[in-house]
Amino acid sequence: MKNSCILLSLAMVMFCFSLAGAESGLLQQSQARFQAVPATPPALEGNPASTSKVELGRMLYFEPRLSASNLISCQTCHNVGLAGADLQETSVGHGWQKGPRNAPTVFNAVFNKAQFWDGRAKDLAEQAKGPVQASVEMNNTPEKVIETLNSLPLYVALFAKAFPGEKQPVTFDNMAKAIETFEATLLTPNAPFDRYLGGDENALTPAQKDGLQLYLDKGCAGCHSGVNIGGEGYYPFGLAEKPHSDILPPEDTGRFMVTQTPSDQYSFRSPSLRNVALTMPYFHSGKVWTLLDAVKVMGSSQLGLTLNEVEAKQITDFLTTLTGDQPRVEHPVLPATSDATPRPVLTSGGSH
Ligand code: HEC
Ligand code: HEC
Repeated sequence: MKNSCILLSLAMVMFCFSLAGAESGLLQQSQARFQAVPATPPALEGNPASTSKVELGRMLYFEPRLSASNLISCQTCHNVGLAGADLQETSVGHGWQKGPRNAPTVFNAVFNKAQFWDGRAKDLAEQAKGPVQASVEMNNTPEKVIETLNSLPLYVALFAKAFPGEKQPVTFDNMAKAIETFEATLLTPNAPFDRYLGGDENALTPAQKDGLQLYLDKGCAGCHSGVNIGGEGYYPFGLAEKPHSDILPPEDTGRFMVTQTPSDQYSFRSPSLRNVALTMPYFHSGKVWTLLDAVKVMGSSQLGLTLNEVEAKQITDFLTTLTGDQPRVEHPVLPATSDATPRPVLTSGGSH
């Protein structure tokens, strides 16, 4: 009797030890693959931030007069109150036209290896020049943007302050640089998962830890890891099994359109999974509305696995721990329109 009691307590102690071992093993495995989102922006190559540059960038981000219609700003499709996205399958831009792809969030985008679903812009400054000119987005021209900015004396003064010593500070490039420094401040630190990475074992519930374990064991981290839990490489969507043509429309061949390399057919940048619980609908086509369904699609399309309901639910529970503190951004007061400001053009005209 006494012996069996000793044996039993020994077994219980060992059981507890092995549980603790598995737990810290999961933490160590995670720390080796992921990093927390920092609370302050990283330094930008060739574009040092300053308070006046970030402030100008914030105004330009909310500035609808950068668009031909004077209606559409970056905020229209990357709403800072909606986790930096727009809740549309694919974005709606100039003249109510539907674009071909879903708008990714701008939050933490500074940590992505390159910008856009196909990585065609190398950084946020290069990226910012795209939407202003895209006919289905803001449908404007650099010349018209410069004319608009020069017609608003406050902007002329703010560009001079943000780019001191430059003879002609009001340029299209400087517009993009100012927006880049502002976007770099749109970070979401302090997610439960980041607190876990910092060593707080209680930051995740047991179910969320099970989900994290599955996420690692099934191979999700192979394409979604690092600080952004994604955004670091290009992979064919449908690596194991092609998803339905509704989710992967045949006409959008992804990175192939940028590189013309056959192996890039239907390759897309793995998106960041930061705040993914807030940025439905999912995939570049925006055809999947629930995170649970998106996780199941990933299992079959990327890993050739059928995740059962419980597994998919646990992984989804883990993904909700990637929601961080949302940035609180004050809407700027924009300069008053002058007589010289170009008037809104609502139709696309002949030139685009
Ligand atoms: C009409 C909607 C619309 C407007 C306006 C718009 N965007 Fe976008 N944005 C999109 C879409 C759609 C994509 C994805 C396009 C693609 O990948 O081909 C995108 C992609 C991006 C990305 C890349 C994010 C990533 O993870 O790859 C950034 C950054 C971005 N936009 C910033 C901006 C800025 C800055 C402005 C204002 C100058 C702006 N956008 C205006 C719809 C819009
Ligand atoms: C081989 C690489 C690869 C693997 C493995 C992988 N993914 Fe993905 N993931 C991608 C790519 C690429 C996309 C973008 C697909 C598209 O829309 O074109 C994506 C998209 C997603 C999305 C949609 C995000 C959004 O904002 O639209 C989620 C969610 C996701 N993956 C979760 C997972 C989970 C969970 C696993 C494991 C079960 C996983 N992924 C495994 C490459 C991968």
